[in-house]
Amino acid sequence: MKILITGAGGMVGRALVAHSAACGDEVFAHERESLDITSADAVRRTFERERPEAVVNCAAWTDVDGCELNPERALLVNAEAVEILAAHSRLAGASFVTISTDYVFDGGKEGFYTQRDDPEPQSAYGLAKLQGERRAQRAAARTVVVRTGWIFGAGGKNFLATAVSRARRGEHLKAISDAYGTPTYAPHLAARLRELAGRDLPGTYHVVNGGAGASFLDFAREAVRVAGVEGVEIESVPMDSLQRPAPRPRNSRLRCLLSEAIGLAPLPHWREALKEFAEFR
Ligand SMILES: NC(=O)c1ccc[n+]([C@@H]2O[C@H](COP(=O)([O-])OP(=O)(O)OC[C@H]3O[C@@H](n4cnc5c(N)ncnc54)[C@H](OP(=O)(O)O)[C@@H]3O)[C@@H](O)[C@H]2O)c1
Repeated sequence: MKILITGAGGMVGRALVAHSAACGDEVFAHERESLDITSADAVRRTFERERPEAVVNCAAWTDVDGCELNPERALLVNAEAVEILAAHSRLAGASFVTISTDYVFDGGKEGFYTQRDDPEPQSAYGLAKLQGERRAQRAAARTVVVRTGWIFGAGGKNFLATAVSRARRGEHLKAISDAYGTPTYAPHLAARLRELAGRDLPGTYHVVNGGAGASFLDFAREAVRVAGVEGVEIESVPMDSLQRPAPRPRNSRLRCLLSEAIGLAPLPHWREALKEFAEFR
């Protein structure tokens, strides 16, 4: 497959580049330096030169609090640019996969969010990502939207991605005990992104690791366990104590109504995925 990957320097982008290369794809991997997705001209020139069969957009402005303080830029990167990529994918005759987020939901639901739940974003980041989904779907009928959440993997800087290495260093961990999500391992997500690009079945998918989900505290406890270290202290804190500019959903656990229906194997349980991540590090 001739696959063009944007945001190739990010946590998911890197995992996808590695996976696609291992699958024998012809990979056009673009970090921001080689392709700024907000530049329609640069996107046009890149597509004309590379003629991809599939495009996977891993680029986004993922600083949730930054987006809250600069919603215009959030819309530019996470919505307008996604539409530009979708439109050029259509012109090139390529399938288009773009990643969205659990933050399109408000977090008030008790159970799992599926495709039957109406998005109700509470933050500028969530709103821009939802706009990105919709604008892409309008610009290209072949758009595949992949909503995911709570990603961890090599090169990641968030709490989940750094918990194992911080535990190994014996650092004191502070973990939120009253916010729940479905942890997702970047290489597992990457494999599914490529699979969906190849299937070319448009729609909105929820892609997360298996299991009933976790709080940050559950995840931290498991990270300490797989790190195999003794005596690491985990401080449990309520979400509201963090006083961040952007609101986060209290529960954003995702489940997919489509994946199994089209014969995709469920991704491993997040505890298995975390073990795999810890062994790899
Ligand atoms: N991390 C999570 O827990 C999570 C949860 C749900 C959904 N997602 C979604 O998953 C996707 C991948 O996220 P990630 O965790 O891999 O994020 P990441 O590590 O922040 O990677 C995003 C990449 O996009 C690049 N980028 C930003 N603006 C760009 C632009 N204008 N043109 C080209 N590239 C640009 C960034 O480059 P710079 O570093 O130079 O800015 C970065 O390399 C995103 O769509 C995100 O919204 C993430």
